[in-house]
Amino acid sequence: MSDVAKTLSVEEQANYEKLSNVIDLYSGKEGCLIQVLHAAQEIFGYLPYEVQKYVADNMGFSVSYVSSVSSFYSFFSTTPRTKHEVKVCLGTACYVKGGKLLIEKLQEVLGIGVGEATPDNLFSIHVTRCVGACGLAPVVVVDEEVFKQVKPADIPGILDQYRGE
Ligand code: FES
Repeated sequence: MSDVAKTLSVEEQANYEKLSNVIDLYSGKEGCLIQVLHAAQEIFGYLPYEVQKYVADNMGFSVSYVSSVSSFYSFFSTTPRTKHEVKVCLGTACYVKGGKLLIEKLQEVLGIGVGEATPDNLFSIHVTRCVGACGLAPVVVVDEEVFKQVKPADIPGILDQYRGE
């Protein structure tokens, strides 16, 4: 384990210890980085820069490579989990039918960018790839619930369903 552990709480040290064991287990195997990042996300809840750097340093990758993999796959999150994750599909059908306008509306209503969380940690905005509902594009997914044929004007109402739960 690197000297990063010296400045961490006991719980964080235990988490890095677990991650170190995972790295030992997967290092050198095919697809190892994805497996390790999955495990890291399980352990830490998300993939902050420090964790990406730890993985890079201990697996012989550059931090920029680990960061690009972390941000490429929609199942990895580089921000803390919020209560509700709002995902806008930007697969071809949704993109053509105005998925980008939905992102703009979300950013306007929530006051945050893609990959960011609201200060109350209630919502975060994400982009996702095709969720298999192309016939009813454009699609927004909140947690596990799929909203179809969404118009920008629908966004405030959709969000209101998740406020004050
Ligand atoms: S492209 Fe959005 S559901 Fe298929």
